[in-house]
Amino acid sequence: MKKKKKKIRLKKQAYYLLAVIVFLVVGVILGINFYNDFKYKQTNEYKLTSKGYSLEDTNVLLDKLSENSISSLINQDKNDTLVGLVKEKYFLEKNLDRYLAYIEEEEEEDNLTDVVAIVNVNADHKWYEEELETDTSLNEQMIVNKFYALSEDYTPENLVSIPLDYSYGTEGENQLIEYAYDKFLDLWQAAHDEGFYLMVTSSYRDYASQKEIYDYRKATQGERKADETAARPGHSEHQTGLVVDMTSTTEPSATDFSESEAYKWLKEHAHEFGFIERYPEGKTYLTGYSPESWHWRYVGIEAATVMHEENITYDEYYAFYLTK
Ligand code: DAL
Ligand code: ZN
Repeated sequence: MKKKKKKIRLKKQAYYLLAVIVFLVVGVILGINFYNDFKYKQTNEYKLTSKGYSLEDTNVLLDKLSENSISSLINQDKNDTLVGLVKEKYFLEKNLDRYLAYIEEEEEEDNLTDVVAIVNVNADHKWYEEELETDTSLNEQMIVNKFYALSEDYTPENLVSIPLDYSYGTEGENQLIEYAYDKFLDLWQAAHDEGFYLMVTSSYRDYASQKEIYDYRKATQGERKADETAARPGHSEHQTGLVVDMTSTTEPSATDFSESEAYKWLKEHAHEFGFIERYPEGKTYLTGYSPESWHWRYVGIEAATVMHEENITYDEYYAFYLTK
């Protein structure tokens, strides 16, 4: 009898123990869930999705923006333009305020790709409004444009003459930096193998000769017209010693060069030798110059290939790949 009672008591105790264990386990699970939920609500992902951003957009924002920008986003209403901007391939966070200001001023919210490109190359400013110093230590990757300038006394090192076999003018008149000249020869030979005979019409120009060219155009055509085709002194890529203006003897007129087969060949192959078309058709709003089918700039094969594949100007490349 005693034994049976003891058994029942033990059984009861086991049930209690089990109940306590079940209670504890459920409690712990609920606690963990509650804690996880609480923690998730502290995350930027939760805060952004509860603003109405999709999970996909939220992930893009989190990937591309700093903690600071995210915090200010969380304190604003959902902004679809901003999401559009951030999704742009060449978006740079440091330019965010300028993108937004440009969109507001120009009512450009429908073409965010252009907005990003324009601001990245500084073309949200008037041409020549900002004067920046070209970093010449970048060598073949230095930039010279309507904002970045070379000093009056900048002369490239290791200039070599382009022989009259490949250039017009007098002996020694046309010069390039040696490493660019080596690649020019490779390009010339490859073009020649395809039946084109390229001739250089202009290459290195010092500050003084660029000034002469620019001043003459300004005097004869007025400043606005001159600025479309000639760089102001210090702002010409020709002063880098990395540029050739070219034509082909079979199709000699530089103004018609854009119609020539030689030009088409260059467009397809010049990057293989490190040269790019610097002022392409349809990109005046980014370069500041009318198209110049004859003006080819040496930037190195790797950079030239990226620009060729992505169909971007050097100004865009420089902003995104070299200064971000
Ligand atoms: N024609 C080009 C833009 C120059 O003057 O450098
Ligand atoms: Zn030129």
